[in-house]
Amino acid sequence: MRRWRSRQRGGAVGFVPTMGGLHEGHLSLTRACRAECARVVVSVYVNPTQFNSADDLCRYPRNLERDAAALEAEGVNILFAPSDKEMYPAGYSTYVEVEGQLTAGLCGASRPGHFRGVTTVVSKLFHLVCPDRAYFGQKDAQQLAVIRRMALDMNWSVQIVGIPTVRDSDGLALSSRNALLSKSERRQARELYAALDAARRSALEGERRAFVLQNGIAERINALENARLEYAELVDPDTFEPCASLKKRTLAAAAAYFGSVRLIDNVLIEIDGAAHGEHGGTS
Ligand code: PAJ
Repeated sequence: MRRWRSRQRGGAVGFVPTMGGLHEGHLSLTRACRAECARVVVSVYVNPTQFNSADDLCRYPRNLERDAAALEAEGVNILFAPSDKEMYPAGYSTYVEVEGQLTAGLCGASRPGHFRGVTTVVSKLFHLVCPDRAYFGQKDAQQLAVIRRMALDMNWSVQIVGIPTVRDSDGLALSSRNALLSKSERRQARELYAALDAARRSALEGERRAFVLQNGIAERINALENARLEYAELVDPDTFEPCASLKKRTLAAAAAYFGSVRLIDNVLIEIDGAAHGEHGGTS
């Protein structure tokens, strides 16, 4: 990877880190990267340090051949798929951690150590790939905010680009984990986005109290037979501070189990303005 990188002259190198099980969500990142950068590097690495449960790590969908074919068809220049031994050799002891509010709540609270694993592996990948721009999905809004913070704090010169969430026709955010849902769980999973979107509509109609909107999401998910809500929260989209009442821009984020499959999603609620929807952009 380093050798290839050292030979690149002129034109930006773009990077899309993934854990594979590639779908149209991942491919929208590689397409944005392709459009903006001379060279596109995609990593596929199921990073053990960001999983909280051995079972979840073991079940995570893996299909490198299929992923490689999809990336080749997209004109990706480099597929970087390191092994566990290469990434975490015996004696590995160094971790990168973003502290404070950004990692305290939501997925940080329900998955202890998760973001430490993410920032550690992304930091290692950044060192290896040395990208000019790196692309992350808004679907993992907290991860995107944590990576932006890390890049700023650690003086990375890489530009972090956020890309809007790609959804199925019924609204369900595409996720590698969707492949693990049974038919009935898949039917119920659409409610995660539906509940978040209902909260957004209710906010646009005038409801400003976060607890009312959060309870609305919780009731809708918990009414399902095979679903269990892990969290539904309204937070500041930049700092991830919980909000008691809506601000101009508020992120509604939720995580829920459908059977044994954990899914997350979020929608940005923008009031006092005509536009509402995803927020991407560059920083
Ligand atoms: P993974 O879940 O494979 O996601 C890789 C990238 O694709 C992330 O930036 C994620 O936000 C984005 N993505 C996933 N589903 C999306 C969708 N429906 N629409 C748009 N973008 C989507 O996130 C990770 O891997 C890992 O934590 C990683 C950053 C690779 C570190 O191990």
